[in-house]
Amino acid sequence: MKNRLVFATGNPNKVKEISQVIGDYMEIVSLKEIGCEEELPETNPTIEANAIQKAQYVVDHYKVDCFSEDTGLEIESLNGEPGVYSARYAGTEKNADANMNLVLQKLGDHTNRKAQFRTVIALIRNGDIKTFEGIVKGKIAFDKTGKDGFGYDPIFVPDGFDKSFAEMSAAEKNSISHRARAVAKLQKYLETSI
Ligand code: IMP
Repeated sequence: MKNRLVFATGNPNKVKEISQVIGDYMEIVSLKEIGCEEELPETNPTIEANAIQKAQYVVDHYKVDCFSEDTGLEIESLNGEPGVYSARYAGTEKNADANMNLVLQKLGDHTNRKAQFRTVIALIRNGDIKTFEGIVKGKIAFDKTGKDGFGYDPIFVPDGFDKSFAEMSAAEKNSISHRARAVAKLQKYLETSI
């Protein structure tokens, strides 16, 4: 029988992505399935602390082991912005298009367009906290391209490619993405520690 683990996220895109990567090995249980429909708190100033905060909330309120993840887009010439504020960069309504427009506007025609996506997964089992980081480096395009993916995908071109994440198939994105890299570390840890 597959192991079951709750994934503490309200974002169905992330559940889909992570299930595609980890699915054969483990059954990912969504928050909805455990009756958690409220928005998880993420009020900390770092990606790491937010990941832990979200997982801890679910552990405390639903008494299950779980993992959560937090991701930020870190742009070198914007001093790491939007970083931990990626979801609400252009306002509290979390509008992906407005967020991308703000990034493109702030960068203007700046030549240093280096950026990275950074994911931190926090796993809490039996009260024990472990974190796993995944990074993909790339650059910010001058325009949005592609229709797939979500969030900042249309303006992020990973190193070694000449197309954005939003122009890639799910499988192609999953083969190199920040989240897939963090999940691979989580998976390796789970395989050796269960
Ligand atoms: P959070 O981890 O849900 O707080 O996400 C932070 C922000 O980064 C949101 O605006 C997401 O849409 C965006 N984001 C997270 N993962 C990705 C990704 O894989 N591609 C593009 N944007 C992402």
